[in-house]
Amino acid sequence: MNAEIFLQVDNYISDLLAKEDKALTDTIQSLDKEGLPQHSVSANQGKFLQVMMIACNAKKVLELGTLGGYSTIWLARALPDNGKVITIEVDKHHGEVAQKNIDNAGLSSKVDLRVGKAMDILPEIIKKNEEPFDMIFIDADKPPYTEYFNYALQLSRPGTLIICDNVIREGKILDKNSADEKVQGVQRLNKMLSENKNVTATILQTVGAKEYDGIAIAVVNRI
Ligand code: SAH
Ligand code: DHB
Ligand code: MG
Repeated sequence: MNAEIFLQVDNYISDLLAKEDKALTDTIQSLDKEGLPQHSVSANQGKFLQVMMIACNAKKVLELGTLGGYSTIWLARALPDNGKVITIEVDKHHGEVAQKNIDNAGLSSKVDLRVGKAMDILPEIIKKNEEPFDMIFIDADKPPYTEYFNYALQLSRPGTLIICDNVIREGKILDKNSADEKVQGVQRLNKMLSENKNVTATILQTVGAKEYDGIAIAVVNRI
């Protein structure tokens, strides 16, 4: 068992169930062209997000961390006609690249891209006191994941799904003395999930096209 077979099986699954079209492959190519990191979810993870959306009949989705819009495109494509994804990105250049990719995918009317720090924009959304989100995907900077999750809870209703990317970090979360602030950030989130009575949560390890990692899935029981 090694990375090679995990990659081959990931390709086998995506060939069957998560085929990328040109808008998605163009988006991945735009990252290298524009000097953005290759930190998008994989095609199979994009499909996973869609399955979760359909399972909870999601019409209103929030994403933290847009990058080039790759995951945003998967999310927006699983929305019904009147659905909306709000996606938050701190980096102006990332935001510009993402907006182009979203436009190129024909999804401008379904995606509301907000450029700014998640920590500033989340309280603004909470203040507006609009309808809760059906699903929230947390994939921005890792150190404040716990704070993001607590904001996400304030934007939820019972049944809302909150999904957090990159919570295993090649198994580095086993190191209790890790000095890596990304590792510390997700360790803190994972511990909080284990103690928070308002959610039912689990973590799936992920292998394949991306480095060995994991995705946390929490469903809100009560607010
Ligand atoms: N969800 C994307 C990948 C996101 S990578 C996909 O799968 O396609 C993480 C992104 O979070 C980067 O673009 C980074 O600029 C952004 N980010 C980092 N800190 C942030 C912050 N404080 N607020 C909002 N976005 C942030
Ligand atoms: C990193 C961030 C991500 O969202 C990701 O999927 C992979 C890596 C990072 O900041 O290292
Ligand atoms: Mg990620």
